[in-house]
Amino acid sequence: MLVLGIESSCDETGVALYDSTHGLLAHQLHTQIAMHAEYGGVVPELASRDHIRRLTPLTHASLQQAGKTYRDIDAIAYTQGPGLGGALLAGASFANALAFALNKPIIPVHHLEGHMLSPLLSEEKPAFPFVALLVSGGHTQFMAVKGIGNYTLLGESIDDAAGEAFDKTAKLLGLPYPGGAKLAELARLGQPSNLHFPRPMLHSHDLNMSFSGLKTAVLTAVNKIRTETGCDAELPEQIRNNICREFQDAVVDVLTSKAKQALKQTGYQQLVVAGGVGANWQLRQSLNNLPEVRTFFPPMAYCTDNGAMIAFAGAMHLASAQPAAGFNVKPRWPLS
Ligand code: KG4
Ligand code: ZN
Repeated sequence: MLVLGIESSCDETGVALYDSTHGLLAHQLHTQIAMHAEYGGVVPELASRDHIRRLTPLTHASLQQAGKTYRDIDAIAYTQGPGLGGALLAGASFANALAFALNKPIIPVHHLEGHMLSPLLSEEKPAFPFVALLVSGGHTQFMAVKGIGNYTLLGESIDDAAGEAFDKTAKLLGLPYPGGAKLAELARLGQPSNLHFPRPMLHSHDLNMSFSGLKTAVLTAVNKIRTETGCDAELPEQIRNNICREFQDAVVDVLTSKAKQALKQTGYQQLVVAGGVGANWQLRQSLNNLPEVRTFFPPMAYCTDNGAMIAFAGAMHLASAQPAAGFNVKPRWPLS
């Protein structure tokens, strides 16, 4: 079965073709980062319009890459939510119109399920059950995953998502949008210092987390340094890099400690990490070093938003004959 996957929940248009026998045959992506950069964040109306412009050429490119035609497509999967309403509608309309024209089934996919299953696209993949850490710009959650469609929420951030904390902290340090990955790069250049940021809810005895206070702690430290050094413009580079290092240490400490707790609580020995922050080098290092646990990450190209994970999740639903719904989008949609 050949499944076309369409992703358009935020600022990336992703189109891919997944074949249930031969695996991923094509993967095309257009990122709108440059377009939104001058506004310092995603502008929803611009995002929707750009998805509309990109979907047809990316689908043609995917078919060409796979050496297939429209007639070869057996089903079409699209991101139904959560995400930006207009952006989701662009992908949903395209996918549903194509499915109607080709008379093929349509499979709505939960964006986070796409992320969560994306490590199964690797050669070395986890088997069910496993603990999933979904860590993106909009969500930070631990899930117990027993099989396709069988997900239990174990705990989540009660305020900002970890990726959001990375982006907001990067912004207040004057780094260009989107700052998360840039902050992580600068953290490599940071040196030990007397800065120490809090580890919120580290000892809360549950799997919930909180990251908004951490961003405020960075702001307080930055203001203090500015007052002490008398510089109210840019921070000296080394001090900024040290802040990046301490901030990243704090986030990674919390996520690692909660991951250990989630594994202990479930008794599972496999951890899957998915979502944009899963690209973070220090988080990868830390979670790869957990004793007696096998940790799986999606291939780097599928960490951030993409069509491959949607095509793959669609193919899994098709295989397990889970019912498909009609044409709608769900900008807010809990996975479990
Ligand atoms: O999963 P994703 O592409 O989109 C959402 O569904 O949110 O994740 C994007 C998030 C952003 O907050 C971005 O700053 C963060 O992932 N991110 C990173 C890194 N690369 C992307 N955060 C920390 N370190 C990175 N290397
Ligand atoms: Zn995402």
